[in-house]
Amino acid sequence: MTAPLRTDPTTVPVALGERSYDIVIGRGLIASLGPRIEALRPRARVFIVTDTNIELNHLDAVEETLAESAIAASQLIVPPGEGTKSFRVFERVCEAIIAARIERGDLVVALGGGVIGDLAGFAASAVRRGIDYVQVPTTLLAQVDSSVGGKTAINSAHGKNLIGAFHQPMLVVADTALLDTLPPREFRAGYAEVAKYGLLGDAAFFSWLEANWREVFAGGKASGSGAREHAIAVSCRAKAAIVARDERETGDRALLNLGHTFGHALEAACGFSDRLLHGEAVAAGMALAFEFSARLGLLSPAEAERAIRHLAEVGLPTRPKDIAGGLPDADALMALMAQDKKVKRGALTFILVRGIGAAFVERGVDAVQVRGFLSEKLAER
Ligand SMILES: NC(=O)c1ccc[n+]([C@@H]2O[C@H](COP(=O)([O-])OP(=O)(O)OC[C@H]3O[C@@H](n4cnc5c(N)ncnc54)[C@H](O)[C@@H]3O)[C@@H](O)[C@H]2O)c1
Ligand SMILES: [Zn+2]
Repeated sequence: MTAPLRTDPTTVPVALGERSYDIVIGRGLIASLGPRIEALRPRARVFIVTDTNIELNHLDAVEETLAESAIAASQLIVPPGEGTKSFRVFERVCEAIIAARIERGDLVVALGGGVIGDLAGFAASAVRRGIDYVQVPTTLLAQVDSSVGGKTAINSAHGKNLIGAFHQPMLVVADTALLDTLPPREFRAGYAEVAKYGLLGDAAFFSWLEANWREVFAGGKASGSGAREHAIAVSCRAKAAIVARDERETGDRALLNLGHTFGHALEAACGFSDRLLHGEAVAAGMALAFEFSARLGLLSPAEAERAIRHLAEVGLPTRPKDIAGGLPDADALMALMAQDKKVKRGALTFILVRGIGAAFVERGVDAVQVRGFLSEKLAER
């Protein structure tokens, strides 16, 4: 076998004063994790949290690089899936970290997708009132979104992500080769968040994605093109810039919710199940946000159509009728949106668009208008 292709790493800084850190992106980077941790925290012990799918595919490589740097490591492997972001598993993670005698000055390593990142990050924020941690994201969604920005959480019986903390990682190491083992549907869902950065604030990046998305999906295994790394780096830069402006989401950070108000309602309607992955819901939500914005006269129907066409071309759902199984009616979807924290009384807060790359926060969207739009879209089924 030939050695896996490597690309020179790209570093994206996240500027947050004394909580600043780097996101390092590249193919084959995992082998450098040991030396990077050693440089960051000499002689620290490490506690790895991961799930069984990642254990199967990538844990050996992580253990190997840590061993080569003589870093003492222990680990906890939890079941995959959203159900793992629970009090029960959170308790297990915290107790395991304490039992492994991890102290302040040691490090937690979150090796996994957004589920592991959110869970392990929250445990790190809580154990001993805060232990530092490193994110090693293994899904596209985690590499461009959840591992960056310091939001950590588990789910409550009342809703997703309701119990958590802001806790920034010390380092994010995104090895793009880890994504080669990701199920294609998961990769595609994560791509919705990549497209989101173009759609919300970077028209040139969106054009680049229209031309290069196939290379991003292929990952440069054969050509070594670096398209996947480029897409991830641009996405991380966009998120880092927004987070640096508004770490705790009092304003601008809400732009990252483009497609998420409609999306969350669809996700909730599908019971947060495999019927509709988060990124798929976001794709459908962004398509609705573009169409709704066009309806309000904010941009031309042709431009909205262009945004939607790209999402559909990569195989993401863009219409209610693309979602398998039944959906509730417009009133029920409105009720699901009203449970969302972004909704206040009769006015909804929406991320709307004046064009591709020109999203803005609109706090006074008329609920009646949204309801009418939704019931029309649902009738197309
Ligand atoms: N903190 C944030 O800012 C933020 C942002 C967005 C999403 N999230 C959270 O992220 C979660 C979703 O994350 P996700 O989409 O990464 O899902 P996930 O963590 O559930 O991973 C998806 C699936 O892929 C498997 N997997 C992961 N990496 C793999 C690999 N390299 N090879 C093979 N299989 C692999 C996992 O075991 C799982 O079955 C949600 O809980 C969401 O709330 C958080
Ligand atoms: Zn999202």
